[in-house]
Amino acid sequence: MSTGSTPFPKWQLAILLGAPLAIGLGYLYLRNRLEDPEKKKVAELKAKTTISLDNEENNTKTSESAIDRAMKLKGAGNRAFHAGEYDKAISLYNEAIEACPSDRTVDLATFYQNRSACYEKREMWDQVKEDCTLALKLNEKYVKAFLRRSRAAEKSGDLVLALEDVTSACILERFQVQSSLVNADRILKALGRQHAREALSKRRPIMPSKHFIKTYFSAFSEDPITKLQLEDDAEALQSGFAKAKAALASQDYESVVSACTEELNADGKYKNEALLLRATFYLLLGRHDEAQADLGKVIDSEASTKVKVNALIKRASLFTQLENTERCLEDFGSAAQLDSNNSDIYHHRGQVYLLLERMDEATAEFAKAVELNPDFSIAYIQKCYADYRHAQINKNVGALHQVRNDFEKALERFPSCAEAYILFAQVLSDQQEWGRAESLFDSALSVDPTNATLYVHKGLVQLQKSTDFDKAVKLINKAIEMDDKCDFAYETLGTIEVQRGNLRRSLELFEKAISLAKTELEMTHLFSLKDAAAAQLKVSERWGLDWTVS
Ligand SMILES: *[C@@H]1O[C@H](CO)[C@@H](O)[C@H](O)[C@H]1NC(C)=O
Ligand SMILES: *[C@@H]1O[C@H](CO)[C@@H](O)[C@H](O)[C@H]1NC(C)=O
Ligand SMILES: *[C@@H]1O[C@H](CO)[C@@H](O)[C@H](O)[C@H]1NC(C)=O
Ligand SMILES: *[C@@H]1O[C@H](CO)[C@@H](O)[C@H](O)[C@H]1NC(C)=O
Repeated sequence: MSTGSTPFPKWQLAILLGAPLAIGLGYLYLRNRLEDPEKKKVAELKAKTTISLDNEENNTKTSESAIDRAMKLKGAGNRAFHAGEYDKAISLYNEAIEACPSDRTVDLATFYQNRSACYEKREMWDQVKEDCTLALKLNEKYVKAFLRRSRAAEKSGDLVLALEDVTSACILERFQVQSSLVNADRILKALGRQHAREALSKRRPIMPSKHFIKTYFSAFSEDPITKLQLEDDAEALQSGFAKAKAALASQDYESVVSACTEELNADGKYKNEALLLRATFYLLLGRHDEAQADLGKVIDSEASTKVKVNALIKRASLFTQLENTERCLEDFGSAAQLDSNNSDIYHHRGQVYLLLERMDEATAEFAKAVELNPDFSIAYIQKCYADYRHAQINKNVGALHQVRNDFEKALERFPSCAEAYILFAQVLSDQQEWGRAESLFDSALSVDPTNATLYVHKGLVQLQKSTDFDKAVKLINKAIEMDDKCDFAYETLGTIEVQRGNLRRSLELFEKAISLAKTELEMTHLFSLKDAAAAQLKVSERWGLDWTVS
């Protein structure tokens, strides 16, 4: 739930659809397409440095016996290592390093690498990194040393180095080794989270687009603020809350927070409503702490049930963003206890279950939301979508068929609901029915012509059906023309540029998307994409690799 509850915000879509925006995409993608000349290039590079550099043919007797001695010491070191005698192994490797002729660089690299294995067992991360660095100076394509230094860097909290090293390893392994890819994904998630937290603490909040805010409010069928009729007296009509409501109605969103604060300072009649509305805008602005404080006050107050339930749903959504599932579900539980007939609770809780991949519970929640409020189109559509996911996971062909019928019915019943076209189109492109999916996105555009993300979706369909980058980019640029705050467009373009090998350009695009992202989860995801591209670029430059698709 981006900022609470837009029906299917982009990061949620990304997770639900699984496919093209998944974290670590760079890796997965490159793994599949390294069948081209790059592969040869990497292989050549690897070969060059693995060949011993003993091309000087004046190996004298003394250096011959020196290397023999070093090898014997190394063998003894290995035996000590395997017996768990790490200190003994370290001193044997020390001797091997001393005995080794300095022109035997590859062997020497191995000895350092062997010694670092002992330090790793002893959890002496600085020494591990030092020895791996020495090994890599001698043999710059040494996969084992990259992987070990990456582990040590991760353990000691240096995630940037950890990522760079695991990226080097992945490239040398041609993205074929699953364990390295899994490590890369884990490091990317942690680094993305770290970067998102840093950025959020420094950032000036940005107001989302008008369209976004409108959609956000429309996801609450029982919104207690917009539905509230002010009392018809002079005091009420001039109160801060009246100003806030007027600002909301006229889409003058920048004025809402201060008008609410005015109501609160005046200790006015609509204090709880003002707190709830201010909290809602804090949520929209990504000011989580302030939102949480205001919502807490509403929940503990004597406010009306509808106001409290709305606050509980919003706080629950905030807890999801903060990845606190337990407290999220607790708030939904309290809301359901207060007002078991409020369909908003089930609709929003269904979204959380969907996100948690708890499909049985998700479908039950959506069914309940629809039962309580059969005319709530968004809940109805989400029920269809949840049923689809359920059928898909259980490979239930009959249910899949039923879902399609339900979607068709939904289109008839709610012909002006853009979500109905969008989610059905999603289902169809999932089933590779590109033509119908495209025409549904066109229908969605005729219903919701200012929603720029629809062009991004059309672009994604292009990519999936024909890998036609240029056509997709054209469509997505159209989204940016319509709404230059459309972060989903920048994210998707960035992803496409990674796939096309334009890493530098992708960094700019991810940067732009990050500056527009509204939630911490969204930012974490975007930073992971950006960090992946940045690491790949850095390693590529070091080795002169070029990924661009010609
Ligand atoms: C190898 O030969 C070069 C000159 O050809 C000489 O300078 C160098 O010292 C020799 N190396 C050893 C280890 O004897
Ligand atoms: C030392 O390096 C050799 C060559 O890479 C390897 O076979 C051996 O397992 C290593 N020993 C340890 C303890 O890492
Ligand atoms: C626009 O369409 C998307 C689907 O792509 C939907 O999730 C969103 O709620 C719609 N509205 C806005 C303001 O983005
Ligand atoms: C919920 O609705 C049902 C049926 O309309 C009604 O019988 C019940 O009293 C309502 N419960 C609450 C808590 O309002």
